[in-house]
Amino acid sequence: MKDCQKIVVFTGAGISAESGISTFRDKNGLWENYDAMRLASIDGFRDDPKAVLDFYNARRLQLSKVAPNHAHYALAELEKKYDVTIITQNVDDLHERAGSSRVIHLHGELAKVTSSRETEDDKCIKYYPLNLPICIGDKADDGSQLRPYIVWFGEYLRYMDEARQEVENADVFIVIGTSLVVYPAAGIVGYARNEVPKFLVDPSSMEGHLPYGFKHIKAKATEGVDSLINEIKSL
Ligand code: APR
Repeated sequence: MKDCQKIVVFTGAGISAESGISTFRDKNGLWENYDAMRLASIDGFRDDPKAVLDFYNARRLQLSKVAPNHAHYALAELEKKYDVTIITQNVDDLHERAGSSRVIHLHGELAKVTSSRETEDDKCIKYYPLNLPICIGDKADDGSQLRPYIVWFGEYLRYMDEARQEVENADVFIVIGTSLVVYPAAGIVGYARNEVPKFLVDPSSMEGHLPYGFKHIKAKATEGVDSLINEIKSL
């Protein structure tokens, strides 16, 4: 594959699984043990803000204790030869910590907080130390209750259009570690041009979920990225 060509990678929880962060829908996944609508929705936050803050404070603290894995580093390394954009559903910062310079977060970022009145008000979106709990009574700059900068179910995805354009312009499109069941994010795979090479890395069979035209590398992220990079080199 010629240098500097555009590679777009769409990632999900699976790429961070080997760093010790649970996925959502696998056996013992987060939504197997926690009620998603109670803890990751605006109604849940209104009903019981303390329960929601406790849930995210625990995930933020966990994130401060884990590190990127070989899959994150391998994608960052690709930037040396190619124009790489990462579009992630993940709220962790492991892509950035591995050195990826262009990361679009569709579902928000655990390392940031925002206003509960206007979540996408840039004046209120701030980095917040991962080991500092967000508490009832903590105020955003607009005086509203502080909340994690996470896109909860049913909330608006601010970067969806930007991400769609990236996928439309990709010379190679890659999907790693997502069950492709959560929309609108999962719909992004449909924007890759027919003629471009498309790969999907996931250890599960993806039965009924493998999008048309994708070559399935049936492996865990840390193993699959090496065969993936060999495939890219031989394009
Ligand atoms: N390497 C690669 N993929 C893996 C690994 C691994 N080590 N372990 C599991 N997987 C795969 C699973 O087979 C599954 O297809 O990762 C996928 C994880 O799927 P989900 O748990 O559904 O996570 P994801 O697709 O990222 O969820 C999408 O749902 O809950 C919301 O907002 C949340 O962003 C999240 C969205």
